[in-house]
Amino acid sequence: MQRHLISAADLSRDDAVLILDTAEEMARVADRPIKKLPTLRGRTVVNLFFEDSTRTRISFEAAEKRLSADVINFSAKGSSVSKGESLKDTAQTLEAMGVDAVVIRHGASGAPYRLATSGWIDAAVINAGDGTHQHPTQALLDAFTMRRRLVGRDAGLGQDLAGKRITIVGDVLHSRVARSNVDLLHTLGAEVTLVAPPTLLPVGVETWPCAVSYDLDSTLPKSDAVMMLRVQRERMNAAFFPTEREYSRRYGLDGERMAKMPEHAIVMHPGPMVRGMEITAEVADSGRCTVVEQVANGVSIRMAVLYLLLGGNEPAQTRTEEK
Ligand code: NCD
Repeated sequence: MQRHLISAADLSRDDAVLILDTAEEMARVADRPIKKLPTLRGRTVVNLFFEDSTRTRISFEAAEKRLSADVINFSAKGSSVSKGESLKDTAQTLEAMGVDAVVIRHGASGAPYRLATSGWIDAAVINAGDGTHQHPTQALLDAFTMRRRLVGRDAGLGQDLAGKRITIVGDVLHSRVARSNVDLLHTLGAEVTLVAPPTLLPVGVETWPCAVSYDLDSTLPKSDAVMMLRVQRERMNAAFFPTEREYSRRYGLDGERMAKMPEHAIVMHPGPMVRGMEITAEVADSGRCTVVEQVANGVSIRMAVLYLLLGGNEPAQTRTEEK
């Protein structure tokens, strides 16, 4: 394992499987009445959020607290960043306080990489989403969810996603979730198909390790998992499709479309969902949709990443008789 987690593309197959297996152990902690391990006692983790977040921020905080770390939450709103302070000065302030890890979400692609390689700070850096670039822990929690559902909880240990057919649908252009998933799923042996209108696919997508289609209906019957993406209006400066209704009609998932998926196939969404746009309430609330499960799995994955990067000196699991 490297010292930082900046991109899903940096993970080897063995690194990724190790994180997924460690997350399975961490998930057992969540099933106990006291959801806490002493692993990161005395370590300080800062959550540095320059962009809005609900799930990712809460999930990292829960993971850090379950590992007994000291947690500092920082959001750009209400901090000196709104007075014009630079990333460098913010980083040096954190360094002066002696932090061990920084979890960073930033609107600029490349900000976590800059932080990790600049020498401004000595801490481990974990990317919690940078611009349209990467969101590696999201891809890991998605892979964890797929492995549990499509391979099996215990049967999945040590396994990758070889041969699984994953379809990612929607605003690929602005999605760090899509980029991270394509990288990680490819490393894990899955076959990925992107489905989007041509205007919401990035230039150069043909060089990515995946297939591309404009037709959702013909792709659904050949999918083991279908991941729906939100249309990221906050990153759009032009019209990318005629109307929302037109978008939903061609690229939205409703009950009728979901029925075209194989019986065992699951529907995924990283959240936040825009019900009625990319996904109907019927699909979002159905038993095949894993959105809530993904959130729970996110905590286990982030515990695993923090544990492996910060190299806790206690075993990942406390003894089982300590129930
Ligand atoms: C995504 C993100 O922020 O990249 N959400 C998340 O982290 N769960 C996707 C989105 O905002 O649509």
